[in-house]
Amino acid sequence: MLLDTRILGTTEKDIEYAASIIKEGGLVAFPTETVYGLGANAMNAEAVSKVYAAKGRPSDNPMIVHIARDKHMLRVTDQVTEDMQKLMDTFWPGPLTMVVPAKPEVPRVVTGGLDTVAVRMPDSQPTLDLILESGCLLVGPSANLSGHPSPTTASHVDDDLHGRIEAIIQGPDCKVGIESTVVDMTSEIPMILRPGFITKEQLSEVLGKEVEMDPAILQKPDVFDNNGLLETDENYKPKAPGMKYKHYAPKAEMIIFTGDPEKVMLAMAEEKMERAQFGQRVEVMLYGDKEPGEAAKEFFAQLREYDKANVDVIFATALAEDGIGLAVMNRMFKSAGYNIREIK
Ligand code: TXA
Ligand code: MG
Repeated sequence: MLLDTRILGTTEKDIEYAASIIKEGGLVAFPTETVYGLGANAMNAEAVSKVYAAKGRPSDNPMIVHIARDKHMLRVTDQVTEDMQKLMDTFWPGPLTMVVPAKPEVPRVVTGGLDTVAVRMPDSQPTLDLILESGCLLVGPSANLSGHPSPTTASHVDDDLHGRIEAIIQGPDCKVGIESTVVDMTSEIPMILRPGFITKEQLSEVLGKEVEMDPAILQKPDVFDNNGLLETDENYKPKAPGMKYKHYAPKAEMIIFTGDPEKVMLAMAEEKMERAQFGQRVEVMLYGDKEPGEAAKEFFAQLREYDKANVDVIFATALAEDGIGLAVMNRMFKSAGYNIREIK
């Protein structure tokens, strides 16, 4: 059934209306500082199932629960540890998600069957208001069709989900532009499961101890099977289930160029000319001199723009794989399906 997707603003009336949809078990996309999320009442298993259906998302890929107040933590987990509190005090509201032990009350459809749950407090007033007004904690996967680039504007959400959800709250465009850092807090040594705007170094500093990185983040699998699952050897087992899927893919073919910057520019220019002779339209994403935060902010929006313009091939230059650069490269590798051209 096709729904009449309404685009809402952020007035009190809009938020009240959106909250009524959530309370009735419907779906509302909401703005955050990272990317737009697709919201439903996290404690209503049926509503959560609708989110998987609307996105076409595999059901073993768990969702983040969005909260508006520190005390909401105790609705999903039994105990807030000292380490968790330190991160909450420093980074919330903000682009950090913590994986913590899940209370039995949290529907297992939210956690993909796991006994842990991912939680974050987004830095977006309309979304915090929506949580408070509805009285519901919200699941919020990125509000795109599964596999597509994540949405950083309300119109990106509408492009993907029009007719599939009840409403979209249009807020400011997302200032971070890539999804939150996901850190597993269930063992003594925290582990980053998905890199993001908040870096390993920042987490380490606040906690006063070492923070690990899931080794799968840096591993480059070779191919995707027909279901979009990354296929490699036995060792590729990312701990965040979502990290094993093909992701963020533009319609265009995408190639990442690495190597000496001058040689890369030459190689790209040459190949662009060659391809033009075959009638292919090539566009480039140059990250050489760009500050990684800027690259993060533009990345997904740029992919969507090129798709709209029917670009055939996207050439992208790589960023250094540390700090926020690592988070951008993690997305870029997946967008390109690990299609990498090493220029010697
Ligand atoms: O910035 C964000 O985090 C955005 C905005 C909307 O808040 N949301 C987002 O959600 O990116 P999603 O569903 O696209 O990504 C959630 C990631 C997935 O990689 C998922 O596998 C992982 O978090 N995750 C969720 N729950 C988990 C759990 N219990 N254990 C391990 N990984 C988990
Ligand atoms: Mg996503």
